[in-house]
Amino acid sequence: MSVRDRRVQYETAGLELKDLKADPIVQWHAWYEQAESAGVAEPNAMTVATVDQFSAPDSRVVLARAVDARGFVFYTNYDSAKSRQILVNPVASAVFAWLDLHRQVRVRGTVQRISEVESNEYFASRPRESQIGAWASPQSQPIADRTVLEKRMNEFRAKFEDQDVPRPASWGGWCLTPNAVEFWQGRPSRLHDRFVYTLDATTNKWQIQRLAP
Ligand SMILES: Cc1cc2nc3c(=O)[nH]c(=O)nc-3n(C[C@H](O)[C@H](O)[C@H](O)COP(=O)(O)O)c2cc1C
Repeated sequence: MSVRDRRVQYETAGLELKDLKADPIVQWHAWYEQAESAGVAEPNAMTVATVDQFSAPDSRVVLARAVDARGFVFYTNYDSAKSRQILVNPVASAVFAWLDLHRQVRVRGTVQRISEVESNEYFASRPRESQIGAWASPQSQPIADRTVLEKRMNEFRAKFEDQDVPRPASWGGWCLTPNAVEFWQGRPSRLHDRFVYTLDATTNKWQIQRLAP
């Protein structure tokens, strides 16, 4: 079917203000658990948009590895395009698209590096081959072909043989700390439900507002 004629009716129970938790992180966890129970593929996948030095946006999927009072933590290479963009403009937005549930969560906020201790702990929990991959891949850099990666994998496998793989200094976590989080629930006739939480800078409290779809 052509993309022009593809249409899905979103028959859902909808979303009311009374259904929402006061804190958007608590609300996110409630929806995440429902996405997980519904069998959504990679429910912790989020599309993170950053802004480069020319104010041009860029976006890619990463996996949220912690979601708590600080915000949304993901791990990557600190020399990658996204990390270089964050260093220039320490802001980002993220989208969780739980399409099977006709749901979307949008996050906007500021980005900070997480502690080395937390990055070390998470790195140590990764499968060994992923740890070696973090050393082998100069993420976002041009490479001639795949053999470059295979050769580097072999070099680092040999280098760390019979020992734990340490975290490369160029690999670790970023935390997207939200100042706005929007929950979107698809409804029939494109009259969807949208609620946005915004952080009031003076009271440091979340305010919830319904938005037109
Ligand atoms: C499902 C999925 C999960 C991904 N998870 C991560 C991740 O957690 N960290 C990461 O650096 N890249 C992840 N990637 C790869 C990124 O989308 C991207 O290709 C890479 O980070 C380089 O992006 P950049 O050049 O904009 O920095 C993932 C891709 C997909 C499709």
